[in-house]
Amino acid sequence: MKIGCPKEIKPQEYRVGMTPNAAHEAVVHGHSVLVQTCAGVGAGFTDEDYIAAGAEIAGTASDVFAKADMIVKVKEPQANERKMLREGQLLFTYLHLAPDPEQTKDLLASGCTAIAYETVTDRSGGLPLLAPMSEVAGRLAPQVGAWTLQKANGGRGVLMGGVPGVGPARVAVIGGGVVGTHAARIAAGMGADVTVLDRSLPRMRYLDDVYGGTFKTSYASAGNTAELVAQADMVIGAVLIPGAAAPKLVTREQLSSMKQGAAIVDVAIDQGGCFETSKATTHDDPIYDVDGIMHYCVANMPGAVARTSTIALGNATMPFMLALADKGWKQACADDPHLLEGLNVHAGQLTYFAVGKALGLDVISPQLAIK
Ligand SMILES: NC(=O)c1ccc[n+]([C@@H]2O[C@H](COP(=O)([O-])OP(=O)(O)OC[C@H]3O[C@@H](n4cnc5c(N)ncnc54)[C@H](O)[C@@H]3O)[C@@H](O)[C@H]2O)c1
Repeated sequence: MKIGCPKEIKPQEYRVGMTPNAAHEAVVHGHSVLVQTCAGVGAGFTDEDYIAAGAEIAGTASDVFAKADMIVKVKEPQANERKMLREGQLLFTYLHLAPDPEQTKDLLASGCTAIAYETVTDRSGGLPLLAPMSEVAGRLAPQVGAWTLQKANGGRGVLMGGVPGVGPARVAVIGGGVVGTHAARIAAGMGADVTVLDRSLPRMRYLDDVYGGTFKTSYASAGNTAELVAQADMVIGAVLIPGAAAPKLVTREQLSSMKQGAAIVDVAIDQGGCFETSKATTHDDPIYDVDGIMHYCVANMPGAVARTSTIALGNATMPFMLALADKGWKQACADDPHLLEGLNVHAGQLTYFAVGKALGLDVISPQLAIK
């Protein structure tokens, strides 16, 4: 199979769909890989790295789209990329079609087959191609929160780990899933006093068993949440209700109970955020102040650490990418029901029910599409 990897063109996107390692694995499997020039530069990979891995370099995105049987990307194809997709071509990337009728219409019109990273599942019901980015965002949250707490950034001037004779920062993490657990581990590693709030008792049992000596857990009732938020130097928002907007768990009124200069890092902002006062920000201007509480609400946090994120995403996508290339998408999806769950579009038809429901469009079952 000829696998194509164009340079990402969405603003502030520095990740790339294939690392040189992934390109090398594909070449070892007998495939050819065509990478757009400078596609990996934002993540620290040069054209020479790809050439050494056995890939060819293409001058333009249109070269890549014209020649490749499968396109491997990071972000959903932008309008001018969608014009280059063709019937029978395979697209493997994040799509997030439910809130995006324009993209859905274009993908259907192109006749391509599109497999979305975010709907591929695993045996335990998890989302293996979303998890690496949650891990990155979770581990980054205390790091950006600590920076936000510095005086020059409008923060309270509190050091995460304190010093001998001065207590550590108090951190409340709302939501103890992938983001929350990684955030809590790093905040505790920085020496902070950390409590994770969640509504799932099985999850809290797991966290207590595994991390009991590292951070505390608390049931996320409204009362417990209000109390811990009021005491905190930093609050990290990490809740998710699958398929729904994030619940607003901290109101604007509650900000007045918080310490002046405290930091809010709302990682759940990509689902609307779990603080009433959250609004999405960018890496260029990440922090804003509401009533003396500093808010960090960047919707694509992993972009700040594009190299780590690219390698982490590549590790997760590589086995699926190789299966698609080795067997062709129909056989790969027939052999792996979790990959089949990633199928969103085939030959002008939607194949993912939640997207059809959100957009009011007809859907055929993915099982029918692979027949
Ligand atoms: N901003 C970014 O760059 C970025 C990057 C990655 C993920 N995210 C977002 O971070 C959020 C968390 O993702 P995740 O992978 O950790 O999800 P997850 O499903 O692993 O964890 C979510 C947790 O929230 C808990 N929860 C649900 N409702 C709750 C409530 N009312 N109170 C307390 N806890 C509650 C669940 O029990 C679960 O443990 C999602 O919105 C995700 O899209 C954002």
